[in-house]
Amino acid sequence: MKKILITGGAGFIGSHVVRRMVNNYPDYYIVNLDKLTYAGNLANLDDIKGKKNYEFIREDIVKAEAMLQLFKDYDFTYVIHLAAESHVDRSIANPIEFVMTNVIGTVNLLNAARHAWDGKFEGRRFYHVSTDEVYGALGEEGFFTEETRYDPHSPYSASKAGSDHFVRAYHDTYGFPVVISNCSNNYGSHHFPEKLIPLAINNIKNSKPIPVYGKGENVRDWLWVEDHARAIDLILHKGKTGDTYNIGGHNEWKNIDLIHLLCSIMDRKLGRAAGESAKLITYVKDRAGHDLRYAIDASKLKNELGWMPSLQFEEGLEKTVDWYLANESWLNNITSGDYKKYYEQQYVKR
Ligand code: NAD
Ligand code: TYD
Repeated sequence: MKKILITGGAGFIGSHVVRRMVNNYPDYYIVNLDKLTYAGNLANLDDIKGKKNYEFIREDIVKAEAMLQLFKDYDFTYVIHLAAESHVDRSIANPIEFVMTNVIGTVNLLNAARHAWDGKFEGRRFYHVSTDEVYGALGEEGFFTEETRYDPHSPYSASKAGSDHFVRAYHDTYGFPVVISNCSNNYGSHHFPEKLIPLAINNIKNSKPIPVYGKGENVRDWLWVEDHARAIDLILHKGKTGDTYNIGGHNEWKNIDLIHLLCSIMDRKLGRAAGESAKLITYVKDRAGHDLRYAIDASKLKNELGWMPSLQFEEGLEKTVDWYLANESWLNNITSGDYKKYYEQQYVKR
């Protein structure tokens, strides 16, 4: 039985990857290692927690000794590394945490795997999950390709860029078997409500202001999270060692247009008059260093591995809204307690 380590599996994307791997590969033994920070939530995996090929370990990737021991205890064939601090606004408030987990934590994992695998790399793979934000910001035109020069602007994207460089350095220096993907913004179920889409859904539901940064003209390329998980599965098994793959939805939206679409879906779902939810739109002070536009050219992934996004955005967004409305208790559990403090600090009246 192949043993697969998935880090950050209790988070948003990680939980979709864990679910997919546990359900689709009964002959893989999946170890989900997660520190359970504010963003990690085992309730995301309630449906698979009793499965025979699944185990959860609560641990911190920043602990070097613990990572060395883990790789001694388990003979992992693959690692899918998703654990990270992932929210740009939190990275602006507290960059150090991002350096610790995203850079030091990643190097600890690389190091532990390299020592345990001890040059016997055949058939093994270390998959590093990264973001398109490492490429910086685009103007009105153009796309990020795998050759685009790194130009990160936020502490979050700088820490992810640092981790990507270490992963490539391990490949180039030690012949370590890595593969990297850089994906655009994800959306879907189990998304922590500090990020734009779930935050807006939650606020609209509760008739609270929808905070739109600046003029709402920043553009993001949105991808259904299960399409990302499917791409990761494909790249893990079929991608070329040492290569990078861009993953994106070919689905660019200005924030303000996205919010209007969401408001109209929510009006319909909540039985409100058309235009009612849009009255909650509130322009707030812009994010510092706010990247104008992200857009991915995913043609390498399409041409080499045949991957394409499966869902139209309107359909995916409606499914996402349905999930949040049907899972009120999931949302309420998160938005009580610490989240309230975060929200009050982040969204001070200007
Ligand atoms: P998330 O914040 O929802 O989840 C991160 C998970 O990592 C949480 O479960 C958290 O508990 C865990 N974690 C954090 N620090 C840890 C540590 N020190 N040790 C062990 N576990 C720790 O993030 P996400 O949105 O699911 O993103 C997952 C990965 O995908 C990240 O590497 C992120 O950079 C990347 N990514 C995210 C997006 C996106 O749109 N969300 C897009 C592209 C790439
Ligand atoms: P976010 O979901 O934080 O993802 P990222 O910063 O990684 O792209 O934000 C998506 C976009 O929405 C980004 O341009 C910032 C903007 N935004 C708002 O306008 N208001 C908000 O309250 C948040 C959280 C984000």
